Parts: sequence; C-alpha cells; structure tokens
Amino acid sequence: MTNNDRPKRRLRSQDWFDNPDHLDMTALYLERFMNFGTTPEELRAGKPIIGIAQSGSDINPCNRHHIELAKRVRDGIRDAGGIPIEFPSHPLFENCKRPTAALDRNLAYLGLVEILYGYPLDGVVLTTGCDKTTPSALMAASTVDIPAIVLSGGPMLDGWHDGELVGSGTVIWRSRRKYAAGEITREEFLERALDSAPSIGHCNTMGTASTMNAMAEALGMSLTGCAAIPAAYRERGQMAYRTGRRAVELVLDDIRPSRILTREAFLNAIRVNSAIGGSTNAQPHLMAMAKHAGVELTPEDWQIEGFDIPLLANVQPAGAYLGERFHRAGGVPAIMWELLQAGRLDGDCQTVTGQSIGQNVRERESTDRDVIRPYGQPLRERAGFLVLKGNLFDFAIMKTSVISEAFKARYLREPGNEGVFTGRAIVFDGSEDYHARINDPALDIDENSILVIRGAGPLGWPGSAEVVNMQPPDHLIRRGILSLPTIGDGRQSGTADSPSILNASPESAAGGGLAFVRTGDMIRIDLNQGRCDMLVDDQELARRRMEGIPVVPADATPWQMIYRQTVTQLSDGATIRDAEQFRAISKTPPRH
Ligand code: FES
Ligand code: MG
Repeated sequence: MTNNDRPKRRLRSQDWFDNPDHLDMTALYLERFMNFGTTPEELRAGKPIIGIAQSGSDINPCNRHHIELAKRVRDGIRDAGGIPIEFPSHPLFENCKRPTAALDRNLAYLGLVEILYGYPLDGVVLTTGCDKTTPSALMAASTVDIPAIVLSGGPMLDGWHDGELVGSGTVIWRSRRKYAAGEITREEFLERALDSAPSIGHCNTMGTASTMNAMAEALGMSLTGCAAIPAAYRERGQMAYRTGRRAVELVLDDIRPSRILTREAFLNAIRVNSAIGGSTNAQPHLMAMAKHAGVELTPEDWQIEGFDIPLLANVQPAGAYLGERFHRAGGVPAIMWELLQAGRLDGDCQTVTGQSIGQNVRERESTDRDVIRPYGQPLRERAGFLVLKGNLFDFAIMKTSVISEAFKARYLREPGNEGVFTGRAIVFDGSEDYHARINDPALDIDENSILVIRGAGPLGWPGSAEVVNMQPPDHLIRRGILSLPTIGDGRQSGTADSPSILNASPESAAGGGLAFVRTGDMIRIDLNQGRCDMLVDDQELARRRMEGIPVVPADATPWQMIYRQTVTQLSDGATIRDAEQFRAISKTPPRH
C-alpha cells in the first residue's frame, strides 16, 4: 500500500499548525520553522511530523554515530512524505556517569515524556544503543503512546587481542582477575580493554546494550533484524533509512506502542533474553517498560517463562563469540525462529512491521550453528534467571547461564543435595568498603565464604550500582579460585560472567533483610528451592533491627533527592512511583 492509498486522518500536529480557531497561535507556532527549511504550507498540510529522539552525543560515545544515522532516518521520513524533527534526549552513558547511569534512566524518561507530549509530534524514531537508552525511550513511548519505532545503533565490531576475541566489559572482568593473579601488567590490562573497542557502536558482548536492543526487537518495537547489525556495517545505514520510512507509515496507520506492548510480547522478551544469555539488567528494565505499558509482570513470570529456556546464542559473556558473528549467524530473528519452532514463543504478537512475530521471522533459520544453536542442542539447558527469596530479601535473581562447571563442582554440591551451599558471610557496605577491605587478612575469606554487598540499591547508592560481581581476594585468585558466591542489593554489569545473586529487593536502605546480616553469619543458598537465608534466629534478628539500618550517602544533587523520594525497588523496575497512572496521554492534547 502506498501512503497515498492510506486513509487520511487528522494528525495531532495539526492542532499546532493548522488551527483556524487559534490563528494567532498557529502563526506563532509556524514562524520559526521557515528558518529551518520547512515551509508553513508543508507544516499545515497534514504531513506526519516524526521526531527523531537523538541519544547520541560526544558524552554518549556508544550512541554517537546516531548523529550520522539520523541523516538516513531523515531521508526515509522525507521519502515517505513526512517531516523529520530531530531533538536531543538526556544522555545516558553507562561507563562514565557517576554515581551511575541508572540514576538517570528515569530522568531521561521524564524528559522524553515531556517532549513527546508537549511538542507537535505525530510519531517518533527512538535511537537506542547504550544500556539505558533503550528502556528509557520505550518507557516514554508507552506513557505518551504515539506511534514509535526503535532504531538500534548496533554493536562495535568484534575486538581482537593477540589472536583472541576480546569483548566489551567481559575482557575487563577477566583481565582484572589475570592482573590480580600477577599474570599480566597494567599496560597489558589497558591494551586488552582498548582492543575490545575497535569501532563505533555499543558494547559488542551480550551485555545490557545488546540485550536491551534485542528486547526491543523481541517486543516488536523495531524492524526485523535491527538489533544485531554492527554499527559500522552498510546494513546499519539502510536500516536507519527503512526505519524512517516505516515511522511515517506507523503514523498513517495509527499503530501505537499500546497495540504492540502486550503481556504476551513481554513474555516473549523474557524467553528471548534467556536464549541469548542476556543481561540481568533486563529484569528491572523489562519490569519498568511493562509497568508503563500497563502490563503486569510478576517475579514468577521470570521463573516460569524464562528459567527453563536453553541458552542458544554462543556469545560472550555466557558463550564465546561477539556481535559480528551473532549478526551473521542470523541475530535475534534466528533466535526467535528457534523458539517459535519449539513452541516457546507467541508468534501472533503484532509488531511495528505491521506483521506478526511469526510472519517476521519466517525462514530466518540460523546459517551458523556454532553461534546460534538448535533448540534441541543448546549450549546449556535451563539458562534463564533463577528467582530467589528468603529472609535476606523478598526477591533476587541469579543468572544461571554463566555458572561455570568449576563453580558448580566447588559449591553447588552437598552430599545428596546438589544445589545447596552454606557459607560464611563477609559483609561490605558499598563498594568503597569492599575495595578497602577485600584483601584484609582479618576477614579470613576462604573458599567457603559468601561475599555480600549492600547500600548498592536504588535508594542506597543512589540509582543502584553494578557492583555485586565482587572479585575474591588476591590470595584466592592466585590459588585458582576465580569466583565466590556473591549477594547484593545492587546490580551487575551485563557483561560480567559472575553467578551473583543480585537486584535483591527490598534493598538494605529500604530496611530489607540485607541490612541485618553481619560478617560471620552463615548463609544458606538453596537453588532447588529458590531460597537464600541467613541462619540467624528471630530473637537475634529482632535485636539487630533495633540497631537500625546502615547509613547511606546523603543526596548530592537535586535529582538524587527527587529520585529517592519517588523510586521503587529493582523488583518493580525502579520506576517512578505512581507514574504508570499516566498512560496514552497523547490522546489529551496539551493546553495552548
Ligand atoms: Fe555504552 Fe556498553 S558502555 S554500550
Ligand atoms: Mg552496565
């Protein structure tokens, strides 16, 4: 169908640009755009005005090439009869924002909501890449509910160092251990990290960035195959052009996020996340996106829908390869094809392509079985997140796809009761405390210790930090013990290969059980029962409660104050409390 064949509708932007009742205001709205090259006639003609939410900037290098890609998006929008309007969104750069980019996800969300709601936009292209740029954009698109489509920036090219694949983040965690063991020098450490980033793009491992872009595609919010195309590939520019064209059609056909982001779509995303060995950050982000879409997701959904899905993508940190190979093997559509054949995906979910998931991934079987495994011959069975609870927290998750065989052999074995581990707690209050004391002999850390970190959640940090994947003390690493069980109310990087128990909610700063654990307590982890408890009697716990909860740093900025007043726990997506009551607000146009 050509755009001329589509039925004409009055567009939202015409309230601004073609409003005979408020001629003087219309004149005001129109006048400046002439300087920009867009004529009053054009603006009044009822052409769809498509925003391009620009997430790239010098401060967000993972998304910076969107500045170039946006030109292709504009071409697509123009060629399809729309008018492109590019604007900046609040930067979210994972590596450099202190105290954490997670603090800013809700801020970027708020900013984008105000832009999409308050300006004359009929639809929007959401440019995504670095970790939080994807969830913040989709959260806002749901709240406003104007036609929206995701354009991923794509991962960097594969990194190589001394003939070995080195991937974003993962190389850092692995090199840290080598450095601690005295196997590499400082220079070698830095070189390995630099070699992991050979081009434009976001992290090339299946970290949070690649995961969240895969989630956007799995949800049906990007064109088929969009997520995995490397940033530097020719196809990436072509995808930008096609995404721009499609944005105009979405407006003409009035296809809004609310038609796509259903509960079934979110369950699909949870399953895809397991199959790709996705980031543990997908849990709070999918929860947040679901909340703003008006969809209820529960902790059980992660366990029931996600846990027994096998690991199919052989991509770091759970597997061996990086983004280029994953894309060439078929990317997200090939993963979805596998799940669909196995009856583990709802193929009827609608997408921004105008077709269903099932139609989109038809004939998308992988061409490289080393990288994308058949459902029946996975890298690992039951690779989803395990959901845990107990007297330390009501909710936490563990990424089972990264549990190594060595770790399993050492810890997850009690005679006749595999999956149970009891260890002595070593408790740290924040990462400064961890770094200051991890090598302190007085702590007496051995292979039967469990490292606990608190004060790292949304309230405590504030923002929730990626600090739970704590490394053992140097003396254990030198003995070949590369990981200990860790527990925390913070998160861990999606690029980490640690089997941590994380995102514990409620957090210590909210009075959760972690606030009352002490170094020397025994902790029992039972993966079979999904339990994690400190073996402390009720009387003693009551006494500790009287002592109060550990203090956390004071607010350092106005936003930290507002954030702490409004944020929910990681189990609930760390969203702005009660913000989900605002939904589909584009239907009530703003006041003049
Ligand atoms: Fe931006 Fe990894 S740091 S994508
Ligand atoms: Mg991260």
